[in-house]
Amino acid sequence: MAKHFDVVVIGGGPGGYIAAIRAAQLGMSVACVDAWQNAKGGPALGGTCTNVGCIPSKAMLQSSEHFEHVQHGLAEHGVEVKGVKLNLAQMLGRKDTVVKQNNDGIQYLFKKNKVTFLHGRASFVNADAGAYEIAISAPANDSVTGKHIIVATGSNPRTFPDLPFDEQLILSNTGALDIASVPKKLGVIGAGVIGLEMGSVWRRLGAEVTILEALPTFLGAADESVASEAHKLFVKQGLAIELGVKIGTIKTGKGVHVEYTNASGAAQVLEVDKLIVSIGRVPNTDGLHADAVGLKLDDRGFIAVDEHCKTNLPNVWAVGDVVRGPMLAHKAEEEGVAVAERIAGQHGHVNFDTIPWVIYTSPEIAWVGKTEQQLKASGVAYKAGSFPFMANGRARALGDTSGLVKFLADAHTDEILGVHIVGPMASELISEAVVAMEFRASAEDIARICHAHPTLSEATKEAALAVDKRALNF
Ligand code: NAI
Repeated sequence: MAKHFDVVVIGGGPGGYIAAIRAAQLGMSVACVDAWQNAKGGPALGGTCTNVGCIPSKAMLQSSEHFEHVQHGLAEHGVEVKGVKLNLAQMLGRKDTVVKQNNDGIQYLFKKNKVTFLHGRASFVNADAGAYEIAISAPANDSVTGKHIIVATGSNPRTFPDLPFDEQLILSNTGALDIASVPKKLGVIGAGVIGLEMGSVWRRLGAEVTILEALPTFLGAADESVASEAHKLFVKQGLAIELGVKIGTIKTGKGVHVEYTNASGAAQVLEVDKLIVSIGRVPNTDGLHADAVGLKLDDRGFIAVDEHCKTNLPNVWAVGDVVRGPMLAHKAEEEGVAVAERIAGQHGHVNFDTIPWVIYTSPEIAWVGKTEQQLKASGVAYKAGSFPFMANGRARALGDTSGLVKFLADAHTDEILGVHIVGPMASELISEAVVAMEFRASAEDIARICHAHPTLSEATKEAALAVDKRALNF
């Protein structure tokens, strides 16, 4: 007889494993099924984020930044370094170690919280007498039943039509993190988050990188002033970014041949050694057998859910990339916690208005809330204030003065509506803005809070002061 659990979580990425831990903390019996296999065929918990996303990309971003910094950023500090050499195998090996530490960490957390881990691919079999039967195949061959099911199966990279990923010449995020020698010329299709992060890594390591983007505007989801500042800085660093292109035929041979038309409609050819295709991701419902139980998908293939991640079936929930909303690990985690709490009869809730966005380029880009163009489009009366890192003492001491902090606040109430940062440690600085918005703070609240000197966070305070046209250091 199949073992029964209060909750069976399908998928061990940030949405799934966090949901499993929270449900176990709340006293439920929990199983988490995850199919990811490491190079040796063993389990590799953590999903895309841990294995081929957030974690390894940050390891490579850090390592490649050290490589660039030691060559170009130390002389002005009076530190002279000669004979700098890249040991790419060591760099990639370190990245793999970081990934493994995270995989093992999640397994440890499962043991600690008494979550049963099952290694294999889960699919719905049927729903009977208040429980769902879930079959688990390869490498496991098992089945379990669960009163509640949380689907957290994540997403897969979108392929270019008729151009499957071979991870040798045509690379997804997976292959982009594992190129064995630095390509002389690297092409990227899509100037989104992955394109910019991976393009930055390989440019720093010595590749000539060209990014081709279909949209005529750069980083359309970001605030316009932040996007234009970032664009200027990336181009200065040597990333060739072509906007408004239309990709035509792509052929592979020894390298990759990309035909496209540029923004003025002229035919162009890009010859590269390898091509990263980062044009978004699609929800992963492969092999889930959603139809076996009548689980409803929406017209874009996402599992259809309400604001509380409830599907059309009783006691079946779905979180993370496989449902609507931004494909961000931290959004998935919040949904996982909220669902576990709702199953336990609590009132778990995700505030989608305060989910931060971060792009880990150098400088980093981070934002929360509305952009200026969104406020204009919706006719909201607002005030804006910004402050450049150039005028921040800590940034000058660091030798990293690029970028700015920008606040947008309601013209009548002064409530913060959005905060946008491009600059050093933007990923860390944005937390203050998220907390402020969660507590519905005004720009003046931040302006009146004592910020330690000298810190980068003073730029946040100054931008809040600038909303009322009273920045002190600019
Ligand atoms: P994305 O949605 O960020 O960017 C895709 C880009 O490709 C867009 O600018 C789009 O206009 C462009 N594009 C689409 N079709 C195209 C075509 N035919 N020709 C040229 N350009 C085209 O998607 P990306 O970068 O693939 O990332 C996937 C997901 O992973 C995103 O949802 C992202 O949020 C998430 N992610 C988040 C990270 C972070 O939080 N730092 C890091 C990496 C990924």
